[in-house]
Amino acid sequence: MIALASDHVGIELKRSIMEYLDEKGYAYVDYGTYDTVRCNYPEYALKAANAVANQECDRGILCCGTGVGISIAANKVKGIRCVVCSDPYSALLSRQHNDSNMLAMGSRVVGKDLALMILECWLNGEYEGGRHAVRVREISQIETTGEIEGI
Ligand code: RB5
Repeated sequence: MIALASDHVGIELKRSIMEYLDEKGYAYVDYGTYDTVRCNYPEYALKAANAVANQECDRGILCCGTGVGISIAANKVKGIRCVVCSDPYSALLSRQHNDSNMLAMGSRVVGKDLALMILECWLNGEYEGGRHAVRVREISQIETTGEIEGI
């Protein structure tokens, strides 16, 4: 299950993503916003990020104007590794190396076709573990204790 959220600026891109997910057969939950009335992206980032953090959803996709604000908000939730991407390579590597569990994109930054290409790379990317697991664990330690064990 994929958690989706956007603000009013990102809603059109989110709708394109929903169409793509429908076509490919992915199940998702939309945590809002549901219209183009001006709103505050942290409120929607929080709902989707909580759904991923508490494992109601496996991963999440967020859209705002730049992808920046909504990703910063999501990354405040413990256990979230949200990456804001405007290129497919970073999206793929964020899965393979960083085990990103949320993807954010900006509707004012990427067009629909590029966004869907980024999304495809991110959805198909597999976490490689190994040497990367050490680094992801260190990220978690910073989040939990503000320190890295042994450093
Ligand atoms: C809303 O105007 C805009 O600030 C928001 O969509 C996003 O770009 C924030 O990072």
